[in-house]
Amino acid sequence: MCGIVGCIGKKEAQPYLISGLHRLEYRGYDSSGIVTINEKSATLLRAKGKVSELEKLADKQPSKDTIGIGHTRWATHGEPSEINAHPHQAGDVYLVHNGIIENYKELKTGLKNHVFVSQTDTEVLAALVDSFYGEGTELVDAVTQALQLVVGTYGIAVVSVRNPDEIIVARAGSPLIIGIGSDETYIASDASALIGYTTQAIYLNDGEIAICRRDGVTLRDLAAQPISSRVETIEIDMQAIQKQGYDHFLLKEICEQPVTLRSTLSGRVNVEDEQVKLGGLNLSVKEIRDIEHVTIIGCGTAYYAGLLGSYYLEQLVDDLTVDVAMASELRYRSFHLPKNTVALVISQSGETADTLACLRELKRRGVKTLGIINAVGSTIAREVDGGVYVHAGPEISVASTKAFTSQAVTIAMFGVQIAQAKGSSAKDVAKFIQELDQLPNEIEAVIKNYKEKIADIAKRYAHYEHAIFFGRDTLYPVALEGALKLKEISYIQAEGFAAGELKHGPIALVDDTFFEVALILDNWLFDKSLSALAEVNARGGHVIAITNSKKQIDAEEILVIDTKLDLLAPLVLNVAQQLFAYYVTVAKGFDVDQPRNLAKSVTVE
Ligand code: AGP
Ligand code: GLU
Repeated sequence: MCGIVGCIGKKEAQPYLISGLHRLEYRGYDSSGIVTINEKSATLLRAKGKVSELEKLADKQPSKDTIGIGHTRWATHGEPSEINAHPHQAGDVYLVHNGIIENYKELKTGLKNHVFVSQTDTEVLAALVDSFYGEGTELVDAVTQALQLVVGTYGIAVVSVRNPDEIIVARAGSPLIIGIGSDETYIASDASALIGYTTQAIYLNDGEIAICRRDGVTLRDLAAQPISSRVETIEIDMQAIQKQGYDHFLLKEICEQPVTLRSTLSGRVNVEDEQVKLGGLNLSVKEIRDIEHVTIIGCGTAYYAGLLGSYYLEQLVDDLTVDVAMASELRYRSFHLPKNTVALVISQSGETADTLACLRELKRRGVKTLGIINAVGSTIAREVDGGVYVHAGPEISVASTKAFTSQAVTIAMFGVQIAQAKGSSAKDVAKFIQELDQLPNEIEAVIKNYKEKIADIAKRYAHYEHAIFFGRDTLYPVALEGALKLKEISYIQAEGFAAGELKHGPIALVDDTFFEVALILDNWLFDKSLSALAEVNARGGHVIAITNSKKQIDAEEILVIDTKLDLLAPLVLNVAQQLFAYYVTVAKGFDVDQPRNLAKSVTVE
């Protein structure tokens, strides 16, 4: 989801801007641009497509200017094009923007002195700033006055040829971080663009405006009142945002799951004492014991992790009720929650607009909110009442993989902690702890022992146009996740179903343009799962069975994953699905890490 960079210092700005935009490419975008300025002129470069296209322009038009801003755009208003790419200019003002100016049409009617050239809402904001930027007016004051009229979401950076010693930055809904260097100041949408430049940063909050100079940063609010700044240390190393020998970030992130999962579990699961201890919940043992209902919210893969986690919570805590909701739906529903409800807010990026809005609605209703978040310091992580970082490390590929596994495991750990607090004798508590401890090794074995076989199967099924994934019980959320993984990177139209639902309609789809993935566990539902498989086979299905069972299964392809796990086996089988989606996409030659139309962090609604 788009990205902003900026810098002001003593060195040439252009190299940092280009490097920073490359770092933010993973967020998803369709065009990009930079502007560098001095007291006389501006060098504005914009290009549709990849940042490499912009880089070619910069090579032809190098700039010695030491202040500039840059942007990767994920279009919301106006097609991807050079003319709609940011920065947008109005008079002496150059502006980049993440988000949506909802009242841009109304604002535009009052801006008769500006000749609009783009279709974007952002150009209206640039023109609005310029309309307040009369002679003798400070740039920050013109920005402040403009933002007081704006309805919508924004992260913006603004520069002016009339003031080449300041970058004005503001946010309401789209994240922005300010990096503090020695005699230089950086701006970025996330910390990955600051690595190697500084470890000191200010995470801007909604409603704040920053005046960024070479010698430091001044914060104020929209009423121009000063705000004390709070510098934090960024803890991401360079290697975490590099492929480290893998062809794609997605394969790296699938394969590093044993390591990242150990990091998720570290210091939290004690097998000897059969205890789980999650820090950061900000809940007393009594408050945990008194929890009667858990509601789980998220979007996309985070929602599916929540759905899988809901099964685990029910298995672990006898008297707990659980519901799971897509954040984009719940925020508008007239929902009612029982007393003693705790809301789990699941998000990898911690910036997803729908999830953030839902969180704020839950807090408005007085619901205790706990984040299960990967991105440290993210907006959702800062706004929940308590929570747990999953410590999966930066997830660069748009398709979420390691975060899913760590999120589901963290919800299971939360379930164990509730069971412990309630003195629950649920039979599964001790078994869950054992399996949590074994899960990293089991996933390691799948990657080591089955990667080639999965790649071979993937090549043979990559030509299909459609796919159905199905599974029962805890394999139902995994079927949904497997379908999402495949569709979002290979563009094969794939849907996940509860196995028991196929006969109620979806099985009508089965024909030779489809293949099916049957997820089957050797457990109390094995025979029921075989029934669904038989129904699909009877209609000419092309079924790939992914299972931990060594029993007789009738399918076109059978991938038997040898795992000793039972309760957490779905997370082991899911790794096979992740690899399958990856190799299908590689076989199709598509962009594995930055699939079309998608963004890594969806910060617009
Ligand atoms: C998953 O592969 C997708 N990239 C997408 O569904 C993602 O899970 C969703 O946008 C939620 O993102 P979040 O976890 O950062 O909130
Ligand atoms: N709404 C703006 C546009 O469409 C910004 C989109 C973005 O966040 O990249 O240009």
